[in-house]
Amino acid sequence: MDIIIRKAQPEDAGAIINYMKVIGSETDNLSFGSEGFPISQEEEAGLIHEKNKSPRNALFLATKNERIIGKASIEAFSCRMAHRAEFGISVVKAEWGRGIGRKLLETVIQHAKLHQIEIIELEVRSDNERAIRLYNNFGFVKIGAYPKYFKMNDSSYVDFDLMNLYL
Ligand SMILES: CC(C)(COP(=O)(O)OP(=O)(O)OC[C@H]1O[C@@H](n2cnc3c(N)ncnc32)[C@H](O)[C@@H]1OP(=O)(O)O)[C@@H](O)C(=O)NCCC(=O)NCCS
Repeated sequence: MDIIIRKAQPEDAGAIINYMKVIGSETDNLSFGSEGFPISQEEEAGLIHEKNKSPRNALFLATKNERIIGKASIEAFSCRMAHRAEFGISVVKAEWGRGIGRKLLETVIQHAKLHQIEIIELEVRSDNERAIRLYNNFGFVKIGAYPKYFKMNDSSYVDFDLMNLYL
């Protein structure tokens, strides 16, 4: 089945909000749970509109039969940090391990190179082996750790690794 990777458009806002509720319920690796990311459809559409106006930033969707199955974002900083950009990624659980994460990350790296971004940075749960393996495959290196990055509902803390890709 064909997987298409394309830039998100404001009309995708409703589907993205539903997608975030799905992935939030499937993993504890993200900053939100089954409630999804706290944003309205109008706000999400506005954010995508703004993002698409600024060529260095991008939100990519992986779709299968027009359904969103993955998402990756890159957001460049400005001024003296304009050489750096923040990266985020997710894939629905049913599609894990099929190379969709790899495809999304390839797309983001291509985009970053095209826009003179020199460093892609991310934060990942230190126990998120699948994601860390994906990042290592592309040459991301651990530059540090952030103890107590998450505080879960049961009041336990989760440590994160900080990883950079130097392009
Ligand atoms: C992390 C995530 C985006 C990876 O997406 P994916 O489509 O499964 O990624 P891929 O299939 O392209 O590659 C995953 C890599 O992990 C490997 N992998 C598979 N199962 C694994 C496991 N149990 N433990 C460690 N690595 C594993 C794969 O083999 C592959 O590495 P390889 O190419 O060297 O074989 C996806 O699992 C996800 O959305 N997780 C929940 C959200 C999340 O953690 N986001 C990242 C936050 S920083």
